[in-house]
Amino acid sequence: MCGIFGYTGEKKAAPLVIDGLKRLEYRGYDSFGLAVLDSDLWVWKKKGKISREKPPVSRRKGRTAIGHTRWATHGEPSDTNAHPHTDCRGSVAIVHNGIIENYASLRQELLGRGHTFRSETDTEVIAHLIEEHSGGDLLTAVRAILPRLEGSYAILAVAEGYEGIVAARQGSPLVLGIADRACVAASDVTALLDHTDRVIYLEDGDVALLLPPGPTIWHGGKRADRPVRKVDWEVEEVRLGGFAHYMLKEIYEQQSVFSTTVRALYAEPVPDVLKDISGITLVACGTSYNASLLCQYLVEEYCGIPVRAEIASEFRYRTPPGDDLVVGVTQSGETADTLSALKKARMHNHATLVITNVLGSTATRVADHTLYMRAGPEISVAATKSFVAELAVFFYIADVASGGRLRQSILSGHEAIGEALLEDLSPAVDICKDAGSIFFVGRGPFFPLALEGALKMKEITYIHAEGYAAGEIKHGPFALLSPMTPVVALCPQAESYPAMVSNIREMKARGVPLIVIGDGKSQELRDIADVLVPLPGEDIVSAVLGSTVLLQLLAYRTAEALGREIDQPRNLAKSVTVE
Ligand code: M6R
Repeated sequence: MCGIFGYTGEKKAAPLVIDGLKRLEYRGYDSFGLAVLDSDLWVWKKKGKISREKPPVSRRKGRTAIGHTRWATHGEPSDTNAHPHTDCRGSVAIVHNGIIENYASLRQELLGRGHTFRSETDTEVIAHLIEEHSGGDLLTAVRAILPRLEGSYAILAVAEGYEGIVAARQGSPLVLGIADRACVAASDVTALLDHTDRVIYLEDGDVALLLPPGPTIWHGGKRADRPVRKVDWEVEEVRLGGFAHYMLKEIYEQQSVFSTTVRALYAEPVPDVLKDISGITLVACGTSYNASLLCQYLVEEYCGIPVRAEIASEFRYRTPPGDDLVVGVTQSGETADTLSALKKARMHNHATLVITNVLGSTATRVADHTLYMRAGPEISVAATKSFVAELAVFFYIADVASGGRLRQSILSGHEAIGEALLEDLSPAVDICKDAGSIFFVGRGPFFPLALEGALKMKEITYIHAEGYAAGEIKHGPFALLSPMTPVVALCPQAESYPAMVSNIREMKARGVPLIVIGDGKSQELRDIADVLVPLPGEDIVSAVLGSTVLLQLLAYRTAEALGREIDQPRNLAKSVTVE
């Protein structure tokens, strides 16, 4: 969702802020802007993408600037609604990530006192509230007005005649970076890597003044010490490195991601939180939910422990059972629905664990325990390598809880990923690219994979796709089957194979174009399928990983054939920080 970036230091700030905003583009946005502090305060903002709109900053020499990429919530995407927002006199500029829930009443109050509003946003009230404290300095003014704000925010503020940037955080992510004779701030670490690997994660309620050599932080009126952490991601990891898209790069990284995650997990003693579990409730969204559902099948099958996977946004309407360990699964560690679910579990006195990819993310501070998935920075909106890293963690949990039943297959799992990457999917892409709607079907652990295949396909190709338990198709969706609705069926050599074959025969009889992912040597599958995509490996780990990669590549190649904007699909954000 929205991204913020700020720089204050010895260099010309505007180009650095534009570069920082480019690093945040992956979060999803519809407009952007920046404010540069010079002898005066210069603000420029625009609807559209940074690469097309080219901000005219060549004459801006100021060494302090803030910028924003906006994903519209209050007010349509437009030049006026883009951030930064200013007060009536244009002497204070604000960028904001989050939602000010009481903005309507604040706006009425401020209008009543003669303020003039230019935008429809919730954010603009902040600039006008600060204006009312213009007798003091910016830091004092920001600290004075924060108690008036209800909702969530990460804010950067600058003001004419005031040195540095004031930052504040409540419920929305904000990371500070300590660089060489500069201080930087951003919504996430990936945007800071060009400047530094030394970062400070602000806590909710923190206010900071950014000035080189480092920020000063206050909490509840007192000075606060926050640890400086070293980020182990490299700047090269957030570069494209010759690939056409981050999604493709991240798909190709999965072999090493799987091995790295597995190696790191087995290198340490089994965490205490995973010992003697009587039940697990997993809470997650999107791709992380699909991985969690797969965990449900795996752990129940191999360990006999009851597991339920819950959509995090629905968890608020459920009561966590017994003394389940509640596990939040979230690549970003910032997904609002997952954070709320974890908070609810804590309120009900459940032990909580988060499985996340981002060191220092909010989820790691909400949950009692953390397991890192070590996928490295994931830039494409479509989650790929984080899914595989989540699977690595779940295979590991199933293995340790079952006394090592999966160990050998896990250690060779990366080979199936490598083999799947070599498949030519053109015949399948030719079928999918002209489809009006696509069904993905599977049984057992391959049902969550069908959900994931459909999610990938719809989010980056914009073709309607549905994932279904194969046996469920005849209970309604059969009515939709036609030569315009291809079916992608996952048919590994598993317990479900005979039932899957019956299901796909039934679908084929309704005239669907049929893409089967299964044993490439099977004459039976060859006879039924229009396209048979060979699935590498024979054990459950290889079949799951191989299917995953094939489904990701099918979506990617179809989106490529359709000329879609693959890394930043329309209307989507990488990390969804509102409920
Ligand atoms: O960061 P999280 O894992 O919590 O994100 C959850 C979903 O928003 C995310 O997986 C989303 O579904 C992906 N864009 C799908 O590719």
